[in-house]
Amino acid sequence: MKTRDPSALVLTGLFLTSLLVQCTRADTQSVPGSTENDIATNATNNFLGHLADSRVIGGVAIVQKDGKLAFAQGFGSASEELDVKLQDDCTFPIGSNTKFFTAVAIYQLQEKGLLNVTDVVNSYVEPADFGLALPWCPKIHDKEQLGCQEPTIKQLLQMSSGLLPVDNLGCGTPNSTWSDADWFWQYRSFDWDLKWGEAMGYTGNWLSGNATHTDLLKFQKLFDQPLLHAPGSQYCYVNSNFQLAGYIVEKVTNMSFGSYLVENIIKPANLSNTYYWTGALGWEPEGLHRRAVSVPAYRTTFEGGSGPAAYKKINRYPWFPGQSSTAAQAAGSMSSNAHDLLRFYNVIVTQPDVIGLSKDTVANLTEPLQPIPGLDASFAQGIAVSDGPGKAKRLAYTGEIWGFAAQITMWVNPSDPSKSDAVVFFSNLSPAIPFGADGSCSVVSPQDGSRIDLDSRACGNENGAGMTDILTDQLAKIWGITGNFGSI
Ligand SMILES: *[C@@H]1O[C@H](CO)[C@@H](O)[C@H](O)[C@H]1NC(C)=O
Ligand SMILES: *[C@@H]1O[C@H](CO)[C@@H](O)[C@H](O)[C@H]1NC(C)=O
Ligand SMILES: *[C@@H]1O[C@H](CO)[C@@H](O)[C@H](O)[C@H]1NC(C)=O
Ligand SMILES: *[C@@H]1O[C@H](CO)[C@@H](O)[C@H](O)[C@H]1NC(C)=O
Ligand SMILES: *[C@@H]1O[C@H](CO)[C@@H](O)[C@H](O)[C@H]1NC(C)=O
Ligand SMILES: *[C@@H]1O[C@H](CO)[C@@H](O)[C@H](O)[C@H]1NC(C)=O
Ligand SMILES: *[C@@H]1O[C@H](CO)[C@@H](O)[C@H](O)[C@H]1NC(C)=O
Repeated sequence: MKTRDPSALVLTGLFLTSLLVQCTRADTQSVPGSTENDIATNATNNFLGHLADSRVIGGVAIVQKDGKLAFAQGFGSASEELDVKLQDDCTFPIGSNTKFFTAVAIYQLQEKGLLNVTDVVNSYVEPADFGLALPWCPKIHDKEQLGCQEPTIKQLLQMSSGLLPVDNLGCGTPNSTWSDADWFWQYRSFDWDLKWGEAMGYTGNWLSGNATHTDLLKFQKLFDQPLLHAPGSQYCYVNSNFQLAGYIVEKVTNMSFGSYLVENIIKPANLSNTYYWTGALGWEPEGLHRRAVSVPAYRTTFEGGSGPAAYKKINRYPWFPGQSSTAAQAAGSMSSNAHDLLRFYNVIVTQPDVIGLSKDTVANLTEPLQPIPGLDASFAQGIAVSDGPGKAKRLAYTGEIWGFAAQITMWVNPSDPSKSDAVVFFSNLSPAIPFGADGSCSVVSPQDGSRIDLDSRACGNENGAGMTDILTDQLAKIWGITGNFGSI
């Protein structure tokens, strides 16, 4: 493991205290429609309330049944320090959920005849923007003799372009681990985030959110790098794919990516609590961060012993200002609330014309393409898709940034998409729980001393476990969501 410059941590507190937390709405929106809903509402409140009081989770849960909002509630704190409770409409950084917005933007431009997703990326890359004398000629590492290999825009959105995983080490070598001696490292700085902050001098465009995708790709030296594999030949989750797509949006429209999103997606889809911000957190123009949870997220540490793990402390998730969303841009710089993200998905499956997409385009955009290793899902384009029972499609995504996890899962009703089911969980707290000596995964509630048995996925990660999968499974169970909409 390479270490980061600890002096950068000093700045953290400065950003934290400058954030106003206005996440204070009093009432919630759960809609009891029937006795069954009352029972499920109660079960959800009991289940999540106990976990939140015991500091195992914190976040916002939303359930949609038959196309109607069935449950919406915040659990835990928006700010532990200021003792502000989470409400269901609080805004969170949604990280990689941004990618689906970017994919939608590209397809909107195709609908307008401004590009074709099967075009090669190079048709839209202006060499002068990157100080290149000649057009970009992407060559595959160790297969340079094959000459230029041109990824298409669609391959960017499918994560199959072959771009080097400069900020993601999860794929690449056959064993998925780059050794220190590997050729790859010459193209990737170890302290990536910090260098970006240094390059921009912790000032100017970097702080103010004015850095463009051109700035970012230039910094990454993207066009000086070889491809990892032939375009289209394999799936590799690399953020630069979406940053390059963001560059194409800016190039084709002559708008900043943020302005493009506001005019073409956020306004027409009525996502009034959704925004794009690429500067340093806490520097957002007044009003933008209304109802925002404080940043970064929290981590609860539990201590192992002979029995269930005992509560020890709650801290901020490790973070430093170099990890600004400037380095994420079209791959992860949006914030939203759980209602808005759900609304976006509903617009996509029920009335995509509102944002200028035909149903055919949505079908193409959500067509499962590249199997995701280790998951029972496929990566379509900025969204993961799997086939549920009865031909129902399950659309899902999890965005993670600064300890937050924003997860949405929608089971699309094939006979009437306006009657689809969904579970959304936005989390701002993750637990670090050791397994018990007997292999069990459980904690003693610091609230009432009771023993809480947990899904084994919640234990064994000292950085904190992502709880959103576990909670989504459990909420689907409580609300009778199976993805099976009956015979069609
Ligand atoms: C809801 O839960 C509370 C406490 O667990 C219980 O007293 C109440 O009867 C429950 N109500 C329903 C409708 O299940
Ligand atoms: C994009 O180009 C392909 C191949 O040239 C063509 O088949 C397709 O119809 C085009 N799509 C659009 C939306 O123009
Ligand atoms: C992974 O594979 C590469 C070769 O592709 C090798 O150099 C490296 O040592 C391997 N790492 C581990 C941890 O096995
Ligand atoms: C960032 O852009 C805004 C206008 O979009 C401008 O008012 C501001 O001065 C810029 N900030 C910097 C540091 O360039
Ligand atoms: C792009 O927009 C800028 C300012 O918004 C303007 O000055 C410039 O002329 C535009 N370029 C094109 C090619 O439309
Ligand atoms: C957005 O809100 C406007 C005004 O309230 C309404 O006319 C429009 O139908 C809404 N659009 C969607 C997609 O809900
Ligand atoms: C959908 O994809 C097919 C095959 O890739 C293509 O022929 C068709 O034009 C696409 N439709 C739209 C609306 O993009």
